Amino acid sequence: MMSSLVDMIRQRRNRETLYSTEAYWNSKAEAYEDTAVSMWPNRVLNRLYENEARQLISRLLGDPSGAVLLDLGCGTGRFSRWFAAQGARVTGMDFSAGTLAVAKRQSMGDNPTYRQESVYGLTDENAYDVVFIWGVLTVACRDESQLLDVLRRIRRALHPGGRLLITEPIHRGFLHRVLEMDLTSFLAVLQKAGFQVKATAPLHFWPMRVALCYVSWPAWLTVPLCHLGQAQYAAHDYQAAKVTLRREETYRTNSRKFLAAALAQLGHREEARREAELFLIAHPHFTIAHWLSSQPLRDASVRDHFVDGFRKAGLPEM
Ligand SMILES: C[S@@+](CC[C@H](N)C(=O)[O-])C[C@H]1O[C@@H](n2cnc3c(N)ncnc32)[C@H](O)[C@@H]1O
Repeated sequence: MMSSLVDMIRQRRNRETLYSTEAYWNSKAEAYEDTAVSMWPNRVLNRLYENEARQLISRLLGDPSGAVLLDLGCGTGRFSRWFAAQGARVTGMDFSAGTLAVAKRQSMGDNPTYRQESVYGLTDENAYDVVFIWGVLTVACRDESQLLDVLRRIRRALHPGGRLLITEPIHRGFLHRVLEMDLTSFLAVLQKAGFQVKATAPLHFWPMRVALCYVSWPAWLTVPLCHLGQAQYAAHDYQAAKVTLRREETYRTNSRKFLAAALAQLGHREEARREAELFLIAHPHFTIAHWLSSQPLRDASVRDHFVDGFRKAGLPEM
């Protein structure tokens, strides 16, 4: 996974042309799952960071129940769902078809609803009590004039007296995103767009976390867990295999094919096929025939049992 750290550094060097494109976010949605689509590969660290973010948002926004809320640049809808669960009526909007597909898969019912649109295409008027943004303006806007354009659109979309909550890395430091602007200049643009700034607060962030997110779990931990998951599958304990193979340390390693097989045996066909598809993105040359010719299992019934799971998960024969 060191190579993904190198990829991340490469991508950051091209952030101006990359982060503001739909294709970049679609590719993240294909390669990652859950919060990793919007954030970093390691979902445990994402969860810790998200908890901090939620505490801050709750403190600043108060109880959102009953509010008509727009989650602008909603990504996979993690905040849209959270607000909806608290009783807000939520629209999630994003320009990336890939992230919205993940958002829809993970949401139930008609709240939140999702809409594919760029922030530059927002033309709603007088429609929302709250507009919420997490990590979008600093990737979508390159300069002050683009920021002002989007903020004016947001202002028009809000009811009179409506509120805007922005959570963004606003600074000129090394880790800035596309928009490089200090807080004072950012607040000045907000005021120019007609907003009154009621509060600002820092969101605790450890740059070290970003590095940790890209470092591999050590083999002494991942290999035994992968073997344990296989043994549980072989013993027909698919539920236990699923839990083991979904652990952060093993998930997204090549053990994902066994996870797909376990899910298929549990009858979770759609989830199994999704895991199989994600496995094939990282291992495009995998075939059941090749696996059969290269694995050391001697017991034909155990081998056939694995092959049965791979087939049910939709992994390619040859
Ligand atoms: C860092 S992610 C944050 C996603 C989400 N707010 C969250 O916290 O999970 C940035 C999101 O902004 C979206 N985005 C970037 N530029 C955009 C634009 N011009 N219009 C709409 N969405 C955009 C991306 O597709 C991506 O989902």
